[in-house]
Amino acid sequence: MRVLITKNYEEMSKKAADVVAELVNRMPKCVLGLATGSTPEGLYRELVRRHREEGLDFSMTTTFNLDEYYGLDVNHPQSYRYFMDTNLFNGINIEKKNTFVPDGKVPVKDIDMFCKEYEQKIKKAGGIDIQVLGIGGDGHIAFNEPGSSLTSRTRLVALTEQTIKDNSRFFKSDKEVPRYALSMGVGTILEAKELLVLATGEKKAEVVAKAIEGPITSSITASAIQMHPKVTVIIDEGAASRLSMAVFYRFAAEAEAKIGLKLF
Ligand code: PGA
Repeated sequence: MRVLITKNYEEMSKKAADVVAELVNRMPKCVLGLATGSTPEGLYRELVRRHREEGLDFSMTTTFNLDEYYGLDVNHPQSYRYFMDTNLFNGINIEKKNTFVPDGKVPVKDIDMFCKEYEQKIKKAGGIDIQVLGIGGDGHIAFNEPGSSLTSRTRLVALTEQTIKDNSRFFKSDKEVPRYALSMGVGTILEAKELLVLATGEKKAEVVAKAIEGPITSSITASAIQMHPKVTVIIDEGAASRLSMAVFYRFAAEAEAKIGLKLF
């Protein structure tokens, strides 16, 4: 696992944009797995800037998002479709028909079918080349809450009290936060060819340490990234402040720069 520690949020976002832009330039038809939340906002801002100022071209790119609140319409300002449109898709030259976010308004009876089809679409597109991930306060990746199977697939999930509280900052009150979501599973995420994990701030330090250095456990589904062969973690000093191996990660990052190879 590559663990890159940056000075601050800005540098984390730029380094993450370097990883995504390198892929998009090398493989214009690549498939990006995308995440929502506060963490990747800076990454998306930087990608929009590079599109506008440097011509970074997304015209052939396909994207799949990790999750969507169940019950929210695409036009709801807190829906993840709305988030992606406003934070990224409207600012770049991607074809909207090539951007996939689970549909939060699928009728209950059609959920199983919808989730199966979402997975099939990912396969048909050739699989996800790089999956961007944030880490939730309760250790989740996507909405795989503690207790989610580490082989889980796209499905309807219930949200924990902590997630509802963490995400209530975007809503008028806790009560308005949806209780359910459609989410890629941990198993789905682990099939991506590469993972790009981001975290910022001291608030995430403990959960980041558990995810990277703790035991692999469904109690912290982000710990499942340890089972993936190609993971790049980019975190700022705050989020890295509880890591016990930080000195080694910095040494490995310097070594990478010297030999010009990624040390996974
Ligand atoms: P955040 O959420 O980026 O808003 O902290 C992360 C997550 O829940 O995955």
